[in-house]
Amino acid sequence: MAKSSSLVIKSSCVPRRRRVHRPHRSPTKPERAAVAAVHDEALLAAGDMFGSLATSCPSSPEYPVVPDTDDDFVFSVADNASPPPPPQCRSDETLAVHAGEKLGSGAAAETDSIATPIVSGTTHWFRDSADLVAFKEGRRQSFEYGRYGNPTVKVLEDKISALERAEATLVTSSGMNAIVATLLSLVPPGGHVVATNDCYSEAQAFIRDRLSKMGIKSTFVDLDDMEELESVLDKGDVTIFYADSPTNPHLKIVDVPRVAELCHRKGTLVCIDSTLASPINQKPLTLGADVVLHSATKYIAGHHDVIAGCVSGTEALISRIRAWHHDLGGAISPNAAYMIIRGLKTMALRVEAQNRTALRMARLLENHPKIERVYYPGLESSPWHGVAARQMTGAGSVISFEVASDLRGVMRFVDALEMPLIATSLGGCESLVQQPAVMSYWGKSDEEKAKNGIKDNFVRFSFGIEKFEDLRDDILQALEKV
Ligand SMILES: Cc1ncc(COP(=O)(O)O)c(C=O)c1O
Repeated sequence: MAKSSSLVIKSSCVPRRRRVHRPHRSPTKPERAAVAAVHDEALLAAGDMFGSLATSCPSSPEYPVVPDTDDDFVFSVADNASPPPPPQCRSDETLAVHAGEKLGSGAAAETDSIATPIVSGTTHWFRDSADLVAFKEGRRQSFEYGRYGNPTVKVLEDKISALERAEATLVTSSGMNAIVATLLSLVPPGGHVVATNDCYSEAQAFIRDRLSKMGIKSTFVDLDDMEELESVLDKGDVTIFYADSPTNPHLKIVDVPRVAELCHRKGTLVCIDSTLASPINQKPLTLGADVVLHSATKYIAGHHDVIAGCVSGTEALISRIRAWHHDLGGAISPNAAYMIIRGLKTMALRVEAQNRTALRMARLLENHPKIERVYYPGLESSPWHGVAARQMTGAGSVISFEVASDLRGVMRFVDALEMPLIATSLGGCESLVQQPAVMSYWGKSDEEKAKNGIKDNFVRFSFGIEKFEDLRDDILQALEKV
């Protein structure tokens, strides 16, 4: 396997790897063919439905992006090798493993343990008053009380910041906690929130029912209707635009650069809930958003075993959210933070596998006689494909589709599945399936279902990391039962 120069670790006592300089020669035809084959395979392996993967860091003269070659590496005490790139220019795979730890402050690392320690103390002591004053004046980095910050949690925050290309991140006890803290801190009384009418249902309810009691106006717009958004923004009183991208369960995509341009012209902040994308597939801050948040319960933790949330942005915005969050008291436990740090190490691998499986399955189902319609932005037939291709590097694990049947027929399909579990949530290792008409809308009126685009024959999958062929065979056999 070709080695990347980005793995070079600069240290005065560790022998450094240096490229052996060879006289330049053009590759031969068989060599070029071999390289092309490896490249094609790599794209396929990455589930690259969009043809070209966005680079995680723009190349700069100072830190050129060095293409992988088959050159050998040798250990040598290098003299004039260029410095390693800054952390934000490493690949997501590397950042997921090392950011916040080896690459970063290593806030919890008063030890040579490779695994970040779980600092369970709720309070931190100071050597003397001068030490305390140095901390208060920001001359010494430390922690005071667990609700305001914790060394293990800080490592997780740094890791997410690196992956989102953010200055700062706040990790919270749930995704909802991140949403509530963000809106309460960034929208003053008398403010105005504009949200899309298919953002996460509980976020929607919070904006509509609770913020209104605090004198905050809310307007919901249709993602398909940009003119509506423009005319609301034109009134000039909108504090924040809030949207999920992709949306759940119809997998629509917000054109983040376009929306950010419209909003910023009017002084409106842009907040994107990027939960369904994961930080691997989409980086809204690099597209113009001001804050990005996640239910970290999903891809970030990745194992269906931790509830958490996070919000990232500039230091200035995150400090405002952090101050509110201190009062809300939604601190995550250091044990949960450690579980997420552990889960994050494999996030890039997991998400790449999930992208690949979901895309292959979407293509297969699109051509299946018992499937009426597939919703997946990775499909070229999706009306959202173009915008997704511009701003995402993979379309994620969630696909939705309509089966050529009715409520009972689709129940039979779901019940005949042997591997996916009937459950809500998404983004973890295990594949999950749900029929929203049963899972979220049982007992609700036809009107309400129609308003939210939920048909009785509608199914949503979140693919895990099981082998594609096993999932395919299972789905095909279950479709026979419809
Ligand atoms: C898109 C989205 N945002 C936010 C949340 C809330 O996250 P949590 O359940 O971690 O509080 C969810 C939960 O399902 C979600 O799907």
